Amino acid sequence: MASPAFPVAIIGSGNIGTDLMLKILRSDGPLSMAAMIGIDPASEGLARAKQLGVPTSSDGVDGLLALPGFDQIRLVFDATSAEAHLRHWEALRHNGVRVLDLTPAAVGPFCVPVVNLEDHIDSPNLNMVTCGGQATVPIVAAVNQVAPVSYAEIVSSISSRSAGPGTRANIDEFTETTATALQVVGGAQRGKAVIVLNPADPPILMRNTVYCLVEGDCDQVAIEASIAAMIERVQRYVPGYRLKQPVQFETFGPDNPLSIPETGKFIGTRITSLLQVTGAADYLPAYAGNLDIMTSAALATAKSIAAQTMAKAGV
Ligand SMILES: NC(=O)c1ccc[n+]([C@@H]2O[C@H](COP(=O)([O-])OP(=O)(O)OC[C@H]3O[C@@H](n4cnc5c(N)ncnc54)[C@H](O)[C@@H]3O)[C@@H](O)[C@H]2O)c1
Repeated sequence: MASPAFPVAIIGSGNIGTDLMLKILRSDGPLSMAAMIGIDPASEGLARAKQLGVPTSSDGVDGLLALPGFDQIRLVFDATSAEAHLRHWEALRHNGVRVLDLTPAAVGPFCVPVVNLEDHIDSPNLNMVTCGGQATVPIVAAVNQVAPVSYAEIVSSISSRSAGPGTRANIDEFTETTATALQVVGGAQRGKAVIVLNPADPPILMRNTVYCLVEGDCDQVAIEASIAAMIERVQRYVPGYRLKQPVQFETFGPDNPLSIPETGKFIGTRITSLLQVTGAADYLPAYAGNLDIMTSAALATAKSIAAQTMAKAGV
């Protein structure tokens, strides 16, 4: 194995892992693909990796540890499932590699790069939340910068075809991890997340609805500007991320309170943002923006980790 600037490996040769590999190979460094690891020798992702000259193993994390040159790998992305990640972390945690977790296992602190990249950049295990979290937490954070969000609720719709078995096994983890990130990273006092796998054919683009409740009156112009600025920041790594409609504001007064199940009556403003994410079609076609929003966030985070690590080492 060559000794490039910042060699990385991916565990999980499915939808997310393959899209991420293609983005790394097409990017301008400093990351370089040192290994693609799976458990299914017949997987399309491992075949693509071999064709592209990337070392592979179908022996899972043990195969990664046994690869010649493993000691040169600086960072491992995990794109398998939340359950498998727990085992991978146990196997990797004492090997000195950084781990970026693209499953919703939530072992390490959450990272949504446009909101809190710097907060945990030194953490040995960073969790990239979920595709829905990467798409919606920035909007909640943008609203929360202007007015405290008492409740955030999001609905992410993705095409069934873009959700591999790993994603389908992690629906509960998706809802729990995304809801927690709406609070911990987005700043909402309470959060709720829903995912819809849509089997429509032709497949639908990734869509996200973000509801934020703000008590009392709020500065609508400032909230719109904050959301617009946040969208521009996300677009730097996912150009197809955009508002589908202008932000909507609805006010609820004492005469027409909003009734929320398990919470009661709300008086204030409901801010609704409708987002669409068109993918770069590196692996699956452009409808699968849910792959891009996750893999581009992970790539941006890994590049920052690499830059910081190399700067500290004087490279
Ligand atoms: N598809 C999405 O839109 C999306 C977006 C963000 C996050 N995620 C998360 O990413 C993960 C993967 O999702 P996916 O849609 O790519 O699923 P997938 O089923 O297409 O890919 C998972 C891959 O991991 C491999 N794998 C499973 N256990 C393994 C192990 N122990 N060692 C090595 N390889 C192993 C499988 O063989 C498969 O190739 C899930 O946790 C999901 O929640 C998915």
